[in-house]
Amino acid sequence: MKKSTSYTMRDVARLAGVSVTTVSSVVNRKGGIRPKLAQRVEDAIATLDYHPNEVARSLKVNRTFTLGVVVPDVSNFFFNTILQVVEAKARRRGYSVLLCDSHEDPMEERDLLRTLISRRVDGILLASAQSDLTESHLARRRPPIVCFDREPAGFKGRVVVIDNVLASYEATRHLIELGHQRIAAISGPETTVTGSGRVEGFRKALQEAGMPIPEGYIRPGGFTLEGGYRAAVEILRLSNPPTAIFATNNRMSLGLMRALKDLGLACPQDVSVCGFDDFDWSELFTPRLTMIVQPTFQIGELATEMLLQVIKAPDHHLEAGAESRVVLQAELRVGESTVPPAGCSDHSRSNSIPPRPRSSDATEHAA
Ligand code: RIB
Repeated sequence: MKKSTSYTMRDVARLAGVSVTTVSSVVNRKGGIRPKLAQRVEDAIATLDYHPNEVARSLKVNRTFTLGVVVPDVSNFFFNTILQVVEAKARRRGYSVLLCDSHEDPMEERDLLRTLISRRVDGILLASAQSDLTESHLARRRPPIVCFDREPAGFKGRVVVIDNVLASYEATRHLIELGHQRIAAISGPETTVTGSGRVEGFRKALQEAGMPIPEGYIRPGGFTLEGGYRAAVEILRLSNPPTAIFATNNRMSLGLMRALKDLGLACPQDVSVCGFDDFDWSELFTPRLTMIVQPTFQIGELATEMLLQVIKAPDHHLEAGAESRVVLQAELRVGESTVPPAGCSDHSRSNSIPPRPRSSDATEHAA
């Protein structure tokens, strides 16, 4: 008896009494095979303990049917929600996924991209830790890359993002319209497009409202829980502490809530909190957090579809055009963590809130 690793489709076809084409259709789940024949093939596969030789197939068709995915934090609920969508869609389309975590480190990301290219993946989905990704930063001979969540400067491929400036602008406007005059923010890494875009939206809303940003009111939190905690403690210990804080990602929102607890401050009674990105267990939180929610399912679906299309028609993959850039809408989900500041009555509030300038609409912010 041959070793099971050496059996071929031909051996399976012979044992099942069918053609090699029939075996190939069953192995590749192409459908269109009568159930009785398919069962004979499945039985022959089991008898011979046959496993298709994907390496040999890859060499023959010059494809690995594998997608590389690089994200800056696999453990973040935002990314693992997207990864579930990507993996399920890829598998339905006959692809495996090679998952890589760059830990928000541009150098680590470059190494991972090189590894994926050397593994001959057919395409790469990338949420980049790099703020700049010009062609010179990428290997000349490489598979198609689709960027999602973050659109690094200089990147010429297809992207699926939200408008981070607009999303942050809306979150900050929400706090302004509640009557808050002292609003602080905890920012993500300025090297990331999402980190810098959210600070830009925050600044824009306050600037348009004629509200100065006091010294120390924007603190870096590195998109981490610990960073969010440290930034929150620094902000809350200022001589003129804010009445509202906007944490620009899910992990830093958790760090902020822990800091409030440790400092004996109540949300929203003492400090209103607005977050960015959902997280598991968020519905169990008291108070339920007001936050910006991103369309994670759509991001995963669209980015994967774009990449599979580019793999099928590679000559279009550098085509820069309207369809190569999709900007999705994030949503402000108002919870119980944002209320008017203490002592701010409806009457005083309605008189003191600067109206939203007419120029600040979605088109104004197109990222
Ligand atoms: O939590 C990680 C953040 O970085 C998310 O908001 C996501 O948008 C990514 O850019």
